Order: sequence, then C-alpha cells, then structure tokens
Amino acid sequence: MIKQAAVYTGKAKTVYATDDPELFVMEYRDDATAFNGVKKAALDRKGKVNNYFNAHVMQVLEHQGIKTHFVKLLSDNESLVKKLDMIKVECVIRNVVAGGISKRLGIEEGMVLPEPTFEFFLKDDALGDPIINESHIHVFKWATDAEVTELKRKTFLVNDILKAWFATAGLTLVDFKLEFGRHHGELLLGDEFTLDGCRVWDAVTQEKFDKDRFRRDLGNVIEFYEAAAKRLGINIPE
Ligand SMILES: Nc1ncnc2c1ncn2[C@@H]1O[C@H](COP(=O)(O)OP(=O)(O)OP(=O)(O)O)[C@@H](O)[C@H]1O
Ligand SMILES: [Mg+2]
Repeated sequence: MIKQAAVYTGKAKTVYATDDPELFVMEYRDDATAFNGVKKAALDRKGKVNNYFNAHVMQVLEHQGIKTHFVKLLSDNESLVKKLDMIKVECVIRNVVAGGISKRLGIEEGMVLPEPTFEFFLKDDALGDPIINESHIHVFKWATDAEVTELKRKTFLVNDILKAWFATAGLTLVDFKLEFGRHHGELLLGDEFTLDGCRVWDAVTQEKFDKDRFRRDLGNVIEFYEAAAKRLGINIPE
C-alpha cells in the first residue's frame, strides 16, 4: 500500500489516497478546533491519542457486529480505512443534556434523559452544521428512507455498546456524533469515534474527559483524553 496525495484536509484529520482505489489513509493531526473552526490550537500528542482511541473503539464495535471503515493502524498518527461515499448527515445520540441541545431548548445541562434522543445534523461547515429532520433528508435526497432507518438503528446500537462499556470504567457517555458512508451497497461506520466527537463525564463527579475541556478552557485536555483511555483499557504507547 503506497500513500499518495492528500484528497481532503479537514479540521483535525487529513485523508490521503493510496495506490488502492478502495483505501484511504487517515492521518490524525494535533490540531484542535471548536465552534466550527473559530477556536484553534495545536495540542501535543492529540493525533496519536485520537488515532489509538479510535482504532480501539472501532475494533470493539466490529466485534459487536457494527461494520466500520477501519482496516488497521499504520503508524502512531495514521490508520488505513475503506474509502466510503460519505452520507452528508451526522447522527447524534444524547443520554444526558449538554452542549447544543441545552442552549437550543433551554434545558439545564446534566439532566439525565429517560431514554436517548436522536438528532440529525447536516454536514456543512459554511452553514454551521444545522439540525435537520427526516423530511429534509427525504426531500433533498441526502439519504434514502431505508438508509435513514439504518443510520438510526446502527447509531442506537453503538450507543448501547459504548454506554455499557464506558459505565464499567466509571464513565458516563453523555452524547456522541457518528458519520456513516456507503460501501458496495452497505452502510459502514466511518470517520472517527474519539473524545473530540462525544461527551464523557466521570460517573460520580461529572468531571469532563472530552473536547469540552478545550471548548471551555478547562485545561489538561490531552491528559484527560489519556486518563479516559486508560480507564477504558485502551493502550496508547508512550
Ligand atoms: N472512510 C472514509 N472515506 C471517505 N471520507 C471519509 C471517511 N471517513 C471520514 N471521511 C471524511 O473525511 C473527513 C475527515 O476530516 P476531518 O474530520 O478533519 O474533517 P472536518 O474538519 O470534520 O471536516 P468536515 O466538516 O468535512 O467533517 C471528513 O470530511 C469525513 O466526513
Ligand atoms: Mg470531522
């Protein structure tokens, strides 16, 4: 496998083509961004921590029957993934009120929901990733109705698996965002599952282990990412 030119440089990762038209190299950079790229910083070790964290989570999910784009780790900062035709919508599940929904609906952060909520957002940086509904997805043909059903089913399954696993480590999975893509007629989980794209709190103290440490200037961002990984049994080499 030979790494070729970058095909996409996002806010935290760079995607490279390879000599295999079916495979991409995903490089996790040390860049951290928040508020749609308005706040930016480079955080030492972030790329490496996220790369190993994501690899472990993707493998746990595969083991539980969720198909993902993850193929293998290539280096501290790179993973090999299957090239997907990405669906333009983000799938968000919330178990506890925090962040956007708190502002949008005026509900206090920390309220434990009686059951998880599901939301779709349009992946569009220029528009600030607006919340959308199934009718929009249907009318604008961002995904088929069958895909919408599958996106929700898979995201709820991921929630069940990760919520239970995190709980064993004394961590509450507050919320998370997933992206899926098409691959030979199947929907695969793509992109990443890292502490950049979810909220994880200590189950007792509610201390934050996720990107809110960066958004809200709480400090020690990567130290907390590594502490969460350690609790979950995710090994990140020195
Ligand atoms: N397997 C895959 N095949 C193709 N594209 C992928 C795959 N997995 C993730 N992507 C896309 O690669 C990009 C990863 O880069 P990054 O997450 O840094 O982008 P970003 O700044 O979030 O930008 P965007 O707003 O486009 O997501 C995303 O656009 C994501 O949708
Ligand atoms: Mg992204």
